[in-house]
Amino acid sequence: MTILCEPAARAGQLSPALGGDVRAAGTLAETRRLLASDPVESLVVVGASIDLDEALTFTSALRLQRPAVGVVLLRDVLDVVVLTRALRAGVREVVAQDDLAALVDACARSRQLSAQVTGVPQPRPDERRNGQVITVFAAKGGCGKTTLAVNLAAVLAAGGERSVCLVDLDLSFGDVGICLRAEPIRTIVHGLGMLGHVDAAGASSLLTACRPGLSALLAPVEPGDAERIPAGLVSELLAVLPSMFDYVVVDTPSAFSEHVLAAMDSSHHHVLLTTPDVPALKNLRVTLDMLDLLSYAHDIRSVVLNRSDAKVGLSMDDIDRVVRSDIRAHVPSSRDVPISVNKGNPIVLDLPKHPVSEAIARFAREHVLVEPAVAAAKSKRWFR
Ligand SMILES: Nc1ncnc2c1ncn2[C@@H]1O[C@H](COP(=O)(O)OP(=O)(O)OP(=O)(O)O)[C@@H](O)[C@H]1O
Ligand SMILES: [Mg+2]
Repeated sequence: MTILCEPAARAGQLSPALGGDVRAAGTLAETRRLLASDPVESLVVVGASIDLDEALTFTSALRLQRPAVGVVLLRDVLDVVVLTRALRAGVREVVAQDDLAALVDACARSRQLSAQVTGVPQPRPDERRNGQVITVFAAKGGCGKTTLAVNLAAVLAAGGERSVCLVDLDLSFGDVGICLRAEPIRTIVHGLGMLGHVDAAGASSLLTACRPGLSALLAPVEPGDAERIPAGLVSELLAVLPSMFDYVVVDTPSAFSEHVLAAMDSSHHHVLLTTPDVPALKNLRVTLDMLDLLSYAHDIRSVVLNRSDAKVGLSMDDIDRVVRSDIRAHVPSSRDVPISVNKGNPIVLDLPKHPVSEAIARFAREHVLVEPAVAAAKSKRWFR
């Protein structure tokens, strides 16, 4: 989105050139109010009829308070004095007010710069990735979905070698932000205004940079916000994010909500978790039967056994009898896992040689990572 600070009569001529969603503000005070209510906004265009001194005072303050927000200034006449003062105040570009092509270019450059400041990658218009969507699900709570999703995403990002987006679909109780020590300033709830027209720039404005190569779409934090997110927004985001990232990993709540089904529909890979106890195994069996009933393909499925070494009186034969499909990873139990969560650093980054980290890295290597050529061939996802 863009905020255009210009009285209504002139704003009408400029808005079409800015493309996408433009919110008009008649004054700088109104612009401040709009910015305060929208933590994901990244661009303000200040029109030629706004007083220069006021515009520069506004920009200097904004540069400190919200460094990711760019200001593009329009002026009737471009002279050296205006350009020098604007530069000193932190204006990103000054454009002649009748040069609409230059305005479009300046806005695009400013958005790119904002994306770099927030650390979230913004693809170039000519660049489209064939990202793979991986949904991690378990119908019983506490099986380790978030632990696996966060660590899998960190392994896949490989310190920035690949680009990964972790999506927290546990909309009511999501804790991806806590696990990565990421502040939830931008969350999926800020995408509500984009419903029906989510694009890469919009999706990117919702993300939080967490580690090199790893961004996250965080869950809402305010009570009641989870209920405002329609499943359609999840489908739209999961249609756009794979064009921006190599991998999109989705953490889920432990219920077959319509949001989870939207994620399953958009996924190339379903990772189904269980622990070696009867309730979790029973729920996994129900999940597998449900996925069969919904006609999802078997070959996009991986079953992962978390806390696989827990001595709880069940043999591997007992477990295999219930699961009736190949278990692709055994992740051992360790108190270092909750310790890493409390530190806000995924165990695969904190202790890469730890047996838990090695089990997750092996699973990623053998069952999740795909060659770019295969990713392109698999670009058509599974739809029921
Ligand atoms: N392999 C493991 N060894 C030890 N503790 C683990 C392991 N996996 C997960 N845990 C711990 O179990 C608890 C639940 O894990 P996690 O939050 O990942 O589960 P979840 O399935 O996402 O839960 P919820 O359904 O509440 O979202 C956490 O405290 C986590 O640290
Ligand atoms: Mg969880």
